[in-house]
Amino acid sequence: MARRLIAGNWKMNGLRADGTQLAGDLADRIAAEPLTCDLLICPPFTLLADVADAIDGSGIALGGQDCHGAAKGAFTGSVAAAMLVDLGCSHVIVGHSERRHGLGEDDETVLAKAAAAQAVGLTPIVCVGETAGERDAGSALDVVSRQVRHSVPANSGRLVVAYEPVWAIGTGRVPTSDDIAAVHAEIRAVLRADRPDAAAALILYGGSAKPDNAAEILAIDEVGGLLVGGASLTAADFWAIATSCD
Ligand code: PGA
Repeated sequence: MARRLIAGNWKMNGLRADGTQLAGDLADRIAAEPLTCDLLICPPFTLLADVADAIDGSGIALGGQDCHGAAKGAFTGSVAAAMLVDLGCSHVIVGHSERRHGLGEDDETVLAKAAAAQAVGLTPIVCVGETAGERDAGSALDVVSRQVRHSVPANSGRLVVAYEPVWAIGTGRVPTSDDIAAVHAEIRAVLRADRPDAAAALILYGGSAKPDNAAEILAIDEVGGLLVGGASLTAADFWAIATSCD
């Protein structure tokens, strides 16, 4: 089985001094105590170059939080996948719920971004997840499988999927282990059936992952790692989550 992945999504947090310090702290920790999982940090675009320097040689991977679906062009304010590669990124988050629901990105947009990432050798982390209303209506599995079918590119060799229930993000609420297991099993089934090249892709869980629930979530079948928001902004918390893989 592939090593698990603990990914930190810093969202829109951090100035250069904070970001460099946080990344440097993680690099120091991993130099002193190698991990059994892979570590990835996804800072804001403005910090990528400084963070790349701070983690250079540490083995910690760097990712963007978004990219455009086009290779280049007249898209003011956007960042192309190749620009992320240029700064040392190996991964990019696409389709995060704060973009799907906050900025109106649909599956087609997310698919284009994931394909643009793969075209330049980045691994897209394609986020999927139901809203509270969809879960209450009993349609969580349908929503998630539809999102996977429509936002994961065909012929997807290089891929991570992240299951992030919208209602669990930043709320302190986490689904039951049975619910996480059921969604992850559904995602795996869709990948096996419809995306055979990516049948073994890591499937992360995200949404209020913390040091005190990480080990329990990581023990669930088909959970290949965690996508961590708030708790990735503190080195001690993110490290505690990473060492929960052991
Ligand atoms: P959270 O965010 O850990 O703060 O809930 C997770 C995410 O949005 O990726």
